Amino acid sequence: MLGIGIDFGTTNSTVAVYDGQRLRYLPLEPVAGGEVMPTALYLSRDRQAEVGRAAIDRYTLDNSGRTVQLTAEEVGAITVTVAGTDATRGLEDGGSITHSFEVHAWTDQDLPGRLFRSVKRWLGSASVERVRVFDAHYRIVALATPVLSHLREALADEKRSASDVAFIGRPVRYEGRTADANEIAVARMTEACRHAGFRRMQLFPEPIAAARSYLEERPLAEGETALAFDFGGGTLDLSVVESRDGQLALRATHGVPIGGDEIDRRLYRAKVFPELGEGSRVHRPVLDEWREEDFPFDRFGDRLLNWALAYDLNRPELLEILVQGMREGGDAGRCLERLYSVVKGNLSYSVFQAIERAKVALSEVERSEIVVEDLDLRVPLERAELDAVVTPLLEQADAALEEVLASAGLAADDLSVVVRTGGSSRLDAVIRLLERRFPGRVVEHDPFTSIAAGLALASWEEVARGQRPRSPDGHAEGQRPRSPAGHAEGQRPRSPAGHAKGHR
Ligand SMILES: Nc1ncnc2c1ncn2[C@@H]1O[C@H](COP(=O)(O)OP(=O)(O)OP(=O)(O)O)[C@@H](O)[C@H]1O
Ligand SMILES: [Mg+2]
Repeated sequence: MLGIGIDFGTTNSTVAVYDGQRLRYLPLEPVAGGEVMPTALYLSRDRQAEVGRAAIDRYTLDNSGRTVQLTAEEVGAITVTVAGTDATRGLEDGGSITHSFEVHAWTDQDLPGRLFRSVKRWLGSASVERVRVFDAHYRIVALATPVLSHLREALADEKRSASDVAFIGRPVRYEGRTADANEIAVARMTEACRHAGFRRMQLFPEPIAAARSYLEERPLAEGETALAFDFGGGTLDLSVVESRDGQLALRATHGVPIGGDEIDRRLYRAKVFPELGEGSRVHRPVLDEWREEDFPFDRFGDRLLNWALAYDLNRPELLEILVQGMREGGDAGRCLERLYSVVKGNLSYSVFQAIERAKVALSEVERSEIVVEDLDLRVPLERAELDAVVTPLLEQADAALEEVLASAGLAADDLSVVVRTGGSSRLDAVIRLLERRFPGRVVEHDPFTSIAAGLALASWEEVARGQRPRSPDGHAEGQRPRSPAGHAEGQRPRSPAGHAKGHR
């Protein structure tokens, strides 16, 4: 019998197994630290797939030194007929005029492959059903499946039994604009897991898994409560658990779709956009005079943030605006030359990587730098600047803390321990926020592996429970009945959102 925990994260994925005695993380890549794999998929033009670090390396290699050249691909023709007026009624065709337009789509013919990251964030998006990759349309499910297959293959050499159930993590609330985002995401995730070959599986909330793994070694005393604060690349997930009758019972969960990806985007806007020409004044010839005006950076900004499609900025009309701006010389010209290099070299993903490196470094030092050698870009980044960018997100985090405590019917002082996990929980501003609210009780717990560990432990328990002798009422001996979600029943009544209700 083997407990299996699969953390399919927005940024990183991990697989843990537990045999009742020992917890292990399975190697997912043949490199040191390969137990934590970047959640990445690369699809080449000839439909070969690579995952993990290899996917990122391949994308970077394929793009470095390449100059994007868009070509107009004919999609079809549109004919528009404008009806005549009373005045033209006597003319041929009643004076109507017909125009024909050729319709072109700009494509990057030499693009060797597409890189997909943060696919988990699309799972709950009703409006994103399919993504066009070269001449094929891939369902979102099909983009999650190769990574999940790779995670399952890591289990190939493990001794498993027919009763094992893989526990696969899910955030409390998947990202998505519509009310049914969670349902859509759960259905897609379940389908992707099935395609990946997980036959017996169960989706299990990530922050409960985080608490579970921490409390394995440092159990709560009877009646004590703990809060898990899991801040990752895509979501912030919270859970309050309580030790009751020697078991872990869920009191409340809450989730907010904010994470490290959003922090990186905000840093890009705040610190890098001005270095690429945002706010520049440029001169443009209008009739017989030179007019000074703002460079139209807004035509570039969103596409730069959406790095996977940033090649689209190589449209002739945008390049013309850029080349015109570069003639400005001085600071504006230098910044716009840099923007030109980002666009022509398809380097927006490299900018994101540099931003993330600088952000991560600020957990250790007060000052770092966003460095992209190919762009001659060096932007100093201080911790206080990162704090300023993160502040609005932390206000949301603070509100989420209020809400989960209220749902659990607890005050901040009631918690015995706050388990801080997930990569973004390493931000200095996050540590300060939690220390302020829960002084002296915050502990960091395995930011990148805690979820997989907790899932493996919970999976093992679930299977063990099924194998224990049954009492006459059909429940495993010594166990409380469980709800289908795997949580102990007989807890406080639940609100429709699934949070335990009732206050002290
Ligand atoms: N020291 C650090 N300081 C700030 N952010 C960090 C640090 N280390 C990693 N991160 C960020 O943490 C995120 C990845 O964390 P993690 O692996 O926990 O996320 P995930 O599990 O993949 O995402 P999710 O749980 O939201 O699906 C990335 O956005 C990364 O930039
Ligand atoms: Mg996570």
